[in-house]
Amino acid sequence: AFPKQVRLVEVGPRDGLQNESTPIATRTKLELIDRLGAAGIRYIEAASFVSPKWVPQMADHHEVMTGLTRRDGVTYAALTPNLKGLEAALECGVEEVAVFGAASEAFSRKNINCSVAESLARFEPVLERAREAGVRVRGYVSCVLGCPYEGEIAPAKVAEVSKALHDMGCYEVSLGDTIGTGTPLTAKRMLEAVSRDVPMEKLAAHFHDTYGQAIANLYAVLEEGIAVVDSSVAGLGGCPYAKGASGNVASEDVVYLLNGLGIETGIDLDALADTGTWITHAIGRPNRSKVGVALAAR
Ligand code: HMG
Ligand code: MG
Repeated sequence: AFPKQVRLVEVGPRDGLQNESTPIATRTKLELIDRLGAAGIRYIEAASFVSPKWVPQMADHHEVMTGLTRRDGVTYAALTPNLKGLEAALECGVEEVAVFGAASEAFSRKNINCSVAESLARFEPVLERAREAGVRVRGYVSCVLGCPYEGEIAPAKVAEVSKALHDMGCYEVSLGDTIGTGTPLTAKRMLEAVSRDVPMEKLAAHFHDTYGQAIANLYAVLEEGIAVVDSSVAGLGGCPYAKGASGNVASEDVVYLLNGLGIETGIDLDALADTGTWITHAIGRPNRSKVGVALAAR
């Protein structure tokens, strides 16, 4: 059965922008975050406390996290791959962070320079320190429906890593189809395996739209009970360690789908679409939201 309400996790300012090679002004990022909040988004992944050598676009994480205007009821989160990242995020007063692992050994090495087991061991102290600080931790698993280096990924491997993150205290595990190769059937099969080990209400779908399947895949997993969806305004994005990967599923498209299903989000679709039009102009990128393009043309 479909959920009555869905929580959207807007990852545009982070996943959407991290791959941009030309530096984007901090004030543009701050305006994006503010507009998203004004449109009714209640959870915004705003920055990433990773190495600036690895992801230069996120180098202004401190300025972004301390410069944003907090709105009541909105959570502003950041990625923290290790203790160094977490400490820096805590200094900025972050209220929630995320660790990110993978269901693929090769991707783990390319993305965070360690094996899956090493990454999990590295996350333990991050969770411990975050707990001390009263900061909730979300967990990501990448490559849940395919890996750019290893190809197919066994659902059992996704379940194993998801369970490890959940067991160590991640309040939610976001399942990333990093390269967008999944289809509704593989998405359902993967979710079936994971939800045997982690309760459905603790899982989120993080689908990229590289092969145009993200909305179909979302429909499939919503039907299974997924009630948290990660998306990016205007479908911005791509992963620096997954060549050819295009952006996340567009937030506007997700909201349109959910509206059609009678599922509540509390989001103002017109304001969201305007935000997509604005940011794509601001950074000189095409708008990859079909809904956004259609609404802008009216
Ligand atoms: P490393 O080189 O193994 O780390 O990188 P290290 O501990 O050996 O440190 C090397 C240098 O990095 C040192 O500096 C550290 O201080 C520095 P140096 O002495 O050489 O000047 N360093 C840091 N600097 C800033 N912030 C930090 C930090 N940690 C170490 N937190 C590391 C390991 C994880 C840091 C590196 O691999 C990294 O930053 N990777 C970034 C990966 C990334 O951001 N990928 C994109 C996000 S994941 C994603 O997009 C997928 C997702 O959307 C889900 C999906 O779609 O599937 C979430
Ligand atoms: Mg992603």
